[in-house]
Amino acid sequence: MAPFYQDTKMDSLFTTRDPAYHNALKKPIAQLFSMTNMRNYEPHADECTAIFLKSMKDLQGKPVDLAIWLQWYAFDVIGNITFQRKFGFMEQRRDVDHMIRGIDEALKYVKVITEDEIERYDQEEKDTGRTDFLAQIRGKQAKDGSISQRDEMNHLSNNLVYQKLVAEIEEADRNGGLSEFVTYEECLKLTYLQAVIKEAMRMHPGVGFPLERFVPPEGAVICGTHLPGGTNICMSAPTVHYDKAIFGADVHEFRPERWLETTPDQLKTMDRAFLAFGYGARTCIGKNISIMEMGKFVPQIFRHFDIEWASPKPEWETHAAWFWKQSEIIVKFVSR
Ligand code: HEM
Repeated sequence: MAPFYQDTKMDSLFTTRDPAYHNALKKPIAQLFSMTNMRNYEPHADECTAIFLKSMKDLQGKPVDLAIWLQWYAFDVIGNITFQRKFGFMEQRRDVDHMIRGIDEALKYVKVITEDEIERYDQEEKDTGRTDFLAQIRGKQAKDGSISQRDEMNHLSNNLVYQKLVAEIEEADRNGGLSEFVTYEECLKLTYLQAVIKEAMRMHPGVGFPLERFVPPEGAVICGTHLPGGTNICMSAPTVHYDKAIFGADVHEFRPERWLETTPDQLKTMDRAFLAFGYGARTCIGKNISIMEMGKFVPQIFRHFDIEWASPKPEWETHAAWFWKQSEIIVKFVSR
């Protein structure tokens, strides 16, 4: 999966196997994806959340496919963060330019953002009172010349968790602990929410395929076995996340409490084995954006709506390619 720039294939942060090239690509932009910088992006996420809330108010009582709407939401947030322009998925209620289908099929999205969007960005007037990713990247480029160029919770049906989560959010709301749009700082104080998000990603990591690495030329000893250089090895998040020795005998249960009721040492072990965003030098660069988005979005929704299962089927579907995607999450939004 390599993107194209001006019809030429180029190795990306995602595709390159060369650690030096990877480092050269990742290092200059790492700060832009840091948690401290996420605060600059909160208004971009809030704007999209407002559109989502308004849409659900319009569609109240009707079946909506949350799998589709959440993906539209996530894409609009990324568009807004990157270019101060929402792609318009939620407003148009459709897969604009077939970008999502494109991702499922190939790398159209990457191509669209790298060329067409930059061109459009340069032609449009921007809100100068706030920043965006591209502006920041260009700022860095001008300064030191170092840069050359998506699952929420999967157990709505679990009533106990649902009620406990909503109770936590309502209590924070009653006590004045939530702004008009829940801030990242506020969502961190919702400890049950944080555990719910983690547990959802433990049971259903967004990437279902193994995370590959290549043993360096000199070889390496891994789990007591010497492996020659170039050997293709991998870890699989779903496999590790269901390891009873790490997460407990009830790994097949959706139980957020496991993150709250364990010993500090065991929590460390669990955190180290949490591979939803990968690990080490190749860890997901969008991790903080996603953590911020989920933390802010979920309480914002449950402050305003109850969500009811509205599908004729008892469960949603899942499909794994590289992403492990859900579909047919048919629900009804009901205003509180
Ligand atoms: C909940 C949402 C997301 C999940 C579950 C996720 C998951 C992952 C995983 C498992 C990896 C592979 C890590 C490894 O091999 O150790 C990865 C890599 C990557 N992700 Fe994400 N990701 C998410 C959101 C995002 C977003 C929003 C962006 C873009 C802003 C992004 C950009 C990337 C990039 C560029 C890499 C390659 C990093 C590298 O090789 O250095 N991801 N992601």
